[in-house]
Amino acid sequence: MSRKQKGQTKAPSDSSLAPDFSQRVLDWFDLHGRKHLPWQQGVTPYRVWVSEIMLQQTQVATVIPYFERFMEHYPTVQDLAAAPQDDVLHLWTGLGYYARARNLHKCAKMVVSDFGGEFPSSVEELSSLSGIGRSTAGAIASLSMGQKAAILDGNVKRVLARHFAVDGWPGTTSVLNQLWDIAEDLTPDQRCQHYTQAMMDLGAMVCTRSKPDCHSCPLMDSCRAFHQGNQTDYPGKKPKKDKPVKSVQLLMLRNPNGEWLLEQRPATGIWGGLWSFPEVASDDDVTDYWQSTHGTELIHQETWDSFRHTFSHYHLDITPVVADIQTSATQVGERAVCWYDVHAPASLGLAAPVKLLLEKLRQLEPLATA
Ligand code: ADE
Repeated sequence: MSRKQKGQTKAPSDSSLAPDFSQRVLDWFDLHGRKHLPWQQGVTPYRVWVSEIMLQQTQVATVIPYFERFMEHYPTVQDLAAAPQDDVLHLWTGLGYYARARNLHKCAKMVVSDFGGEFPSSVEELSSLSGIGRSTAGAIASLSMGQKAAILDGNVKRVLARHFAVDGWPGTTSVLNQLWDIAEDLTPDQRCQHYTQAMMDLGAMVCTRSKPDCHSCPLMDSCRAFHQGNQTDYPGKKPKKDKPVKSVQLLMLRNPNGEWLLEQRPATGIWGGLWSFPEVASDDDVTDYWQSTHGTELIHQETWDSFRHTFSHYHLDITPVVADIQTSATQVGERAVCWYDVHAPASLGLAAPVKLLLEKLRQLEPLATA
């Protein structure tokens, strides 16, 4: 049965999923996995926990000196629990994401007060502690206690999503559940700590985000994304949010010489410094607006169909309003203005929709009069 079939959320067992998956990962670990990281020496749940929290959103090379300094100051969870929070935050300075440090401190106090200073050994109890999610709990249980426990951090999500061509963004519950099912199924009974480290290392060193080194990967032969040739499509990206829609009216005003009024936009903001038609809020009445701001009448007023101009972060629905005015004043309102002859255009920086509208006006000239 294909993994993509509708309604399927549970992964089949290891043997049907990919024969020898975990054995190939373990063989690769023996040759290429990382074995000399500071938290891999003198392994304890405390050291592994601190390293796992530091390694969230932070590269190994950055973490190493922080980890070593932290262990010098706080060699045990009791030392950390007894420290003033300011000191803990001070040692964290430069690592970023400071909520991690506050939760770390809180968690140390919980371990001391609720668990007698010993980290609990079940994934469930570990997950109840401040700042420890399901994957971090699995990493602590497997790496420091030799338990059979699955992990699913960002690196592992990528390896599994590619290998099994799991479609969709892992931020959604159904995709995340599929990945967890796969991760649980593949986790081996033996050498789970090596398997856990190997999956992290594979994701960080081989199955990288943008340029995976598939020919160095022990899983290449059975990797569906590799065979499809679309490795970087996995894991699926977060769907882009719909852009907000704003709307505006642009006043296209013609003087008795047949020239169109343009004004220069403020230096900052959209179309900064470019020339545009006067802009009126979408729910304002243009006649009232013009009368109250300039004291003159709009003649032969005509509203055109709206059209959409899209910026990187929003859509702008533009409603053009065309009219004649009985003035050629060179000072209209506060802004620098010019009168634009569509048949002898001046070289000005024009906002894209304004250029389009001026071209329409050029084709329509002369403007029909009522
Ligand atoms: N990232 C998270 N945990 C890690 C570990 N144990 N080794 C290397 N990178 C990691």
